[in-house]
Amino acid sequence: MTSNPNIPKHVAVIMDGNGRWARKRGLPRHMGHRSGVSAVRNIVEVAAKRGVDYLTLFAFSSENWNRPREEVSKLMGLFVEALQREVDELHRNNVRLEFIGARQQLQAKLCDMISAAERQTHANNGLRLQVAVAYGGRWDIVQAAQSLAKQVAAGELQPGAIDDAAFSNELALKGVPDPDLLIRTGGEQRISNFLLWNLAYAELWFCDTLWPDFGEQQFDNALEFYAQRERRYGHTAEQVEAAS
Ligand code: IPE
Ligand code: IPE
Ligand code: MG
Repeated sequence: MTSNPNIPKHVAVIMDGNGRWARKRGLPRHMGHRSGVSAVRNIVEVAAKRGVDYLTLFAFSSENWNRPREEVSKLMGLFVEALQREVDELHRNNVRLEFIGARQQLQAKLCDMISAAERQTHANNGLRLQVAVAYGGRWDIVQAAQSLAKQVAAGELQPGAIDDAAFSNELALKGVPDPDLLIRTGGEQRISNFLLWNLAYAELWFCDTLWPDFGEQQFDNALEFYAQRERRYGHTAEQVEAAS
């Protein structure tokens, strides 16, 4: 596991700009998503090489269901194809693959493939790769609240015992440390309902590069930005310096 404090333990990425990448080339949007898969392969490799322990990628949001039916169905097909092609290689590279999101909303075939990939790679102790599909930060918080409410209703939990840790433990990323660095490609500077709870103290890095063009150089630029941050968590700079 990472010991260099200049390298983020957990990097989260909003992979945006596939559609514009395709449009710029006169191609249909789904060709941008296809190129985006190659960029994912690259970044997984680079992140592991740099010593990142956890990588969380936003692939499809709760709100992306509202896109044209044709685009949604092409994306779902692409997820199936990518799983078929990539899981064995990830497994050989010791990657532990997990998915977060409302997976009951996905078609049965994709859901089964996701579970199989999670089972296959479960014991790997290299990079932990979380892919967010049908994921929304608000969905995550709501399902955590429902789970806690059920425990209270069943008399298993006192309302006063619900603290930060108890709440975190019901979220999709339970057991995973909060992201240290959030990268968003594609020029927009917003969270778009990604990990609302977990990003509380993440360093935010935005770039104009469209996701299919994102590679090692851009990733290193983000790491360099991260290495220059002083993380204070509400303390003063003097307190942070005294503690280091
Ligand atoms: C990100 O690229 C991928 C998904 C949201 C599925 P977009 O498809 O949002 O690309 P732009 O933002 O339209 O260029
Ligand atoms: C965010 O991108 C979701 C993913 C990258 C999967 P969007 O393209 O959906 O975000 P908005 O609509 O521009 O905020
Ligand atoms: Mg977009």
